[in-house]
Amino acid sequence: MARTPKFSALDNLRGRSILRLADLTDIEIREVLALSIALKADYAAFRDTLAQRALVMLFEKPSLRTRVSFEIGFQKLGGCVTFLDHRNEPIGAREPVGDYGRNLERWCDVIVARVFKHETLIALRENCSIPIINALSDIAHPCQALADAQVLVEHGITLESCHLAWFGDGNNVCLSLMELVAIMGGRMTVVTPPSHAPCSKLTNEILALAARSGAIITLTNDPSSIAGADAVYTDAWISMGQANCPEKISSLRALAVTPEIMRIAGPHAKFMHCLPAHRGEEVVDAVIDGPQSIIYDQAENRMHAQNALMLALLGAVPAARFVPAGTVEILAKHR
Ligand code: CP
Ligand code: NVA
Repeated sequence: MARTPKFSALDNLRGRSILRLADLTDIEIREVLALSIALKADYAAFRDTLAQRALVMLFEKPSLRTRVSFEIGFQKLGGCVTFLDHRNEPIGAREPVGDYGRNLERWCDVIVARVFKHETLIALRENCSIPIINALSDIAHPCQALADAQVLVEHGITLESCHLAWFGDGNNVCLSLMELVAIMGGRMTVVTPPSHAPCSKLTNEILALAARSGAIITLTNDPSSIAGADAVYTDAWISMGQANCPEKISSLRALAVTPEIMRIAGPHAKFMHCLPAHRGEEVVDAVIDGPQSIIYDQAENRMHAQNALMLALLGAVPAARFVPAGTVEILAKHR
């Protein structure tokens, strides 16, 4: 075990909100990942770092992974959590979003919200002095992308040179992964039907980020373009809140992740999915349950990555910690 240098970029995160992954710089992402790896290795070393802190969770949609990983994660660090179920009453229906935020900030230190409209998160951020974390909106799932980045690193895939292949609907999870690659470098091949390509306005913003890092992001409908990819990633064809549209399903059928698709990527390629999976639709059992699948590592890392992020946003990163071998090297790459 070696002693880490001070997490200097994490100091800059104190008090900030994370609505999209692009709210973080490459160095901030790298340091959050290093802290997450340290947490995962030794929770006891971080005992009570969030004592006396309170988290409020606002969810307009169902959740397994996000809800459990935030609640248990925050409590493991000594904080307390309140969950507000907004599945039957959107945030802003009973009272304006601004009033909502100005009440919550009097009692809690951080808000985690899962919403249908990204604008709800922006309204909360504009009316609150405490950090807001996006737990999934119509356009972004930044905590998923952070956890996935850690999984890639742990499986020996270097972010700067990674080739990530996306298959299916160009949705919220896809957009956050595009942001990850655009910020960190590497390559992403996004294979969708033209009618379900990622939002063009956000894609243009992301391509501008990629131009700065040197990342290459390609939008295509050609499955053969994923040859040699390090990981093949897919997600539900119909996201929560979207109408179950038969035309959309039929346009996506050719992009189900099958053993044949994994063969195009190559035997070294990992299979990734944010979950929940719709077995027999976007992925078949032989792939999701097969040896290339790393889906449960993704689910596990949600908790560690989110905890690292919350420690930073709350200014609660311990000044110096003993961390596992390799963590310092991850940081050093960017120094
Ligand atoms: N991946 C993910 O966000 O899962 P949940 O919808 O179960 O939270
Ligand atoms: N794209 C999916 C992700 C679920 C975690 C949805 O928005 O429902």
